[in-house]
Amino acid sequence: MSPEKRIAWLSQEIRAADALYYQDDNPVLTDADYDALRKELIALETEHPHLIRKDSPTQSVGAKPSGKFGKIKHSVPMLSLDNAFSDEDVSDFVARVKRFLSLPETTPMSFTAEPKIDGLSAALRYEKGQLVSGATRGDGQVGEDVTANLSTLDTVPKTLSGSDWPDVLEIRGEVYIDHADFETMNAAQLAAGKSEYKNPRNAAAGSLRQIDPSITAQRPLKFFAYTWGEVSAPLSETQIGAVEKMAEWGFSVNPQMRRHDGPKEMVAHYTEILNARAGLGYDIDGVVYKVDELALQDRLGFVSRAPRWAIAHKFPAEKAITTIESIDIQVGRTGSLTPVARLAPITVGGVVVSNATLHNADEIERLGVKVGDSVEIQRAGDVIPQVLRVVEASTGELFEFPENCPDCGAEALREIDENTGKQDVVRRCTNEMSCPSQVIAKLKHFVSRRAFDIDGLGEKQIEMFHSLGWLKDASDVYTLNYEDISKLDGFGEISSKNLKASIQSRREMPFDKFLYSLGIRHIGQGNAKLIASHFLEWDKFVESIMLAKEHRAHYLRLLSIDGVGPILTDRIFDFFKSSQFELLKKVKNEEFVDKLNSFKIDRVSCSICRKIYESFSKELFNQSVAHTFCQTVEKGASDGPRKSYSELASIDGVGKEGTGALVGFFSRSSNLMVLAKLQKHVRVLSLEKPSEDSKISGKTVVFTGKLELFSRDEAKARAQALGAKVAGSVSKKTDYLVAGPGAGSKLKKAKELGVHVFEEEDWLSFIEE
Ligand code: IVH
Repeated sequence: MSPEKRIAWLSQEIRAADALYYQDDNPVLTDADYDALRKELIALETEHPHLIRKDSPTQSVGAKPSGKFGKIKHSVPMLSLDNAFSDEDVSDFVARVKRFLSLPETTPMSFTAEPKIDGLSAALRYEKGQLVSGATRGDGQVGEDVTANLSTLDTVPKTLSGSDWPDVLEIRGEVYIDHADFETMNAAQLAAGKSEYKNPRNAAAGSLRQIDPSITAQRPLKFFAYTWGEVSAPLSETQIGAVEKMAEWGFSVNPQMRRHDGPKEMVAHYTEILNARAGLGYDIDGVVYKVDELALQDRLGFVSRAPRWAIAHKFPAEKAITTIESIDIQVGRTGSLTPVARLAPITVGGVVVSNATLHNADEIERLGVKVGDSVEIQRAGDVIPQVLRVVEASTGELFEFPENCPDCGAEALREIDENTGKQDVVRRCTNEMSCPSQVIAKLKHFVSRRAFDIDGLGEKQIEMFHSLGWLKDASDVYTLNYEDISKLDGFGEISSKNLKASIQSRREMPFDKFLYSLGIRHIGQGNAKLIASHFLEWDKFVESIMLAKEHRAHYLRLLSIDGVGPILTDRIFDFFKSSQFELLKKVKNEEFVDKLNSFKIDRVSCSICRKIYESFSKELFNQSVAHTFCQTVEKGASDGPRKSYSELASIDGVGKEGTGALVGFFSRSSNLMVLAKLQKHVRVLSLEKPSEDSKISGKTVVFTGKLELFSRDEAKARAQALGAKVAGSVSKKTDYLVAGPGAGSKLKKAKELGVHVFEEEDWLSFIEE
């Protein structure tokens, strides 16, 4: 083994032993063995000083290595922000806020505006004025315990000033490094023969997450406070008042924060900050606007991962001109073929860019790009750079989009869109279970932080284990052979033991995380949560999907007919349920169009009837169109499956697309096989029923007509916050209908079904009682 490899191996073994010793209280080596490893490492590093790595265990002597960080659960989730990119987006935001609150557009409303600091967010918890813990954001729910590191910052008070702070006070803000300090840091790195940090944000993140807090103490980290999490008493009535309080208690707050009365002033302030940007002395990437009145913030609440009461107005994307050297196709987790332009490397806003996405075949055609073209590209924040336009065309050939997967060679198809019946713009590789690109991307997703979160099984290891044939699907994670792993280069007995321990600790998974981990299209974290809280139990969900599957095939059959959209399809199904279709079943092909037309199904015109006939007769030759059409409609309209499909599709956010993706996933036997294998190793945990302390928890509510006291969205959000499910249509499962003026068919149906109907005002007193 080369000294370099031996040093890497020794470092890894020592770090792993440290982790087990300090963090898990589970030493696996005798003191003598541990000392021998350290001695050998020191000897090798003395002999080859150029091989000493910054992260070598010998470089943190004196400090007690604490292994990795402990976890801290955020009692109030740490959210992100939605983005605005134009002045219009800002006025839309203001209008949206007022609409949600059911206020006329002319109502005056104040917003704060402040720079969006480009650092990393942190949460500081104070109890009785004393700092007790500090955490990183992590995945928003659980962060890392970096208390010792954060308490080394001068701008993080250990004891609060003043006296009117609440007993429990969690202050949140941004940790960053300013430009002058960043330059000094990089000069020192260069002088020590080490490589420079890419940007202040990376330098700040690396400095905060040091295992040894004495290293953090030497780094020039600063903290701006701008919001809060758990508090035992309100800080103020307004955002600006709360921030003033923070300053009184000893926090640094941003001096550029102002209060404004409307979009015009907000945008003017944005421009001012944009112009001042270069002279601020620290990196910012936009301006954050927040509704000032905290009572309104409370009413507005959150959607999935961002508050409704705030938005980040991002600075314009930075642009540059470069040349396309080649166009490659990348195969994503869901098989999507994405064309990527490989560029002559160019610096855009301080970052070297050498790839840009071209999205799909339509986009390539729209831009008319060819290899060799000189193009304008743009980079906005963390988003993948994009090609904007061709500046100078080359004489090369137009790019031909492949019809087969460039990785596995399987056919790549454009699927039918669930809502429109049209072909999707994206082409997908159909070899879902064995296309290497798809399999690897799925495995990476499965072990990622928001999914199974398996420590020690990162992207590199996934690729390695996949190439060795050890990982073919997610269930293989549970049957890895740790003895074989410990013999791999870069692994050792301890790291393989650690890997085993982290996999063993993932034998139970909550419904929503389990579903998200499968990597199904359209089923991100938000949708997975909605689905899980709708069904609570995994088995009930699967049962419903299996029923929905029966409906969807027939739904798509009708939808694929030119001119027949989702509404007409539903009309046809509705009509069939209650009528004389028996009369149609036996008609001859020549009479079909006239007969169908004679039913006068709402909006099903004569030309639609003809198209239906043509579509069916194409695949039937001389058989009876009427018979097959009636069979399709009969099956499609059948109660259980149709209900299951609409139940799924009516979950806010999941919709027909999400339902289609789920049904598609659960229709493939290869997926069902992997699921069955996986469930032998992992127990899917049901979700707890929402707390029963509200009268409407677990109940299904439908809103209809014009609501006058609240906007529809706020009424929905309030009901959901009290544990109710909100549905879009009335069925036997509906518990309550809240009807405003102008209510029509839903009110009628509710009355027929004996559903309890409320007027808006009575509803309010009912839920507030
Ligand atoms: S307020 C409920 N204010 O931007 C969310 N965030 O893109 C409250 N950030 O996660 C966030 N400067 O880390 C807020 N002045 C500012 C900010 C700011 C930077 C970060 C924060 C957040 C991210 C969202």
